[in-house]
Amino acid sequence: MSLLELRDVTRTVIPPDQPALTILNGVDLTVEPGDRISIVGRSGSGKSTLLNLLGLLDMPTSGLLTFDDRPVKSYSGAARDRVRGAQIGFVFQQFNLLPGRTALENVAMPLLYAEGRSFWRRKQLAAEMLQEVGLGDRMESMPDRLSGGEQQRVAIARSLVRGPRLILADEPTGALDLDTGSSVMQLIDEVATRTGAALVTITHDPAIAARARDHFRLDRGVLTRADSDELAAASEAIS
Ligand SMILES: Nc1ncnc2c1ncn2[C@@H]1O[C@H](COP(=O)(O)OP(=O)(O)O)[C@@H](O)[C@H]1O
Ligand SMILES: [Mg+2]
Repeated sequence: MSLLELRDVTRTVIPPDQPALTILNGVDLTVEPGDRISIVGRSGSGKSTLLNLLGLLDMPTSGLLTFDDRPVKSYSGAARDRVRGAQIGFVFQQFNLLPGRTALENVAMPLLYAEGRSFWRRKQLAAEMLQEVGLGDRMESMPDRLSGGEQQRVAIARSLVRGPRLILADEPTGALDLDTGSSVMQLIDEVATRTGAALVTITHDPAIAARARDHFRLDRGVLTRADSDELAAASEAIS
């Protein structure tokens, strides 16, 4: 049983007064529980468009997209929102923390939409998650009092507090320096390993990509498996 599957997926948009633009073309990808996948592509290659499909934020124009072996097309909009909220965690380059709310309040936020125990225990769960990302002593801090690396840790805690089975990271280290970036990636890896979640990382940084087990390249909307030796050489050359 696979967690997520794309078969011959195409995404086309029709911008106003312009011809149709095919952003993704014939994409095949299978994500199994516990997978570590990296997708590398230059700016404009379709990475964010692909991530939106993987995150059930968008639907293919043609082809098959399944979650838990069920076509996403067959979910109602509300069911898709529920699956996304409970089972998918997003980490973006921008931390998107709510200003004027403490780290603890930011991390507890997604649990307002959870049911039962998770809802009632949200403060406790958020506090545990902040401990796990090494911010146990900054729970009452406002985002603007935290460094970039700390803000990304809060954002990671918030993404992972509901225990998603799929973690989608779009340039997660893009706004961080090299060392902070690599410790943030290690943290995401550790949480994914502890919870058994699958992790898909989209990046243009070969060193970040090399941490994954399966490597893909996206070039003008076409996804191909990348050679990991090639990737290792590219990351050597940069570091
Ligand atoms: N809704 C849209 N309408 C028109 N063009 C779009 C739309 N979404 C994305 N594009 C174009 O498709 C290409 C791929 O976009 P995107 O997935 O954001 O790439 P990446 O994340 O790899 O930089 C870009 O050229 C972008 O301008
Ligand atoms: Mg993008």
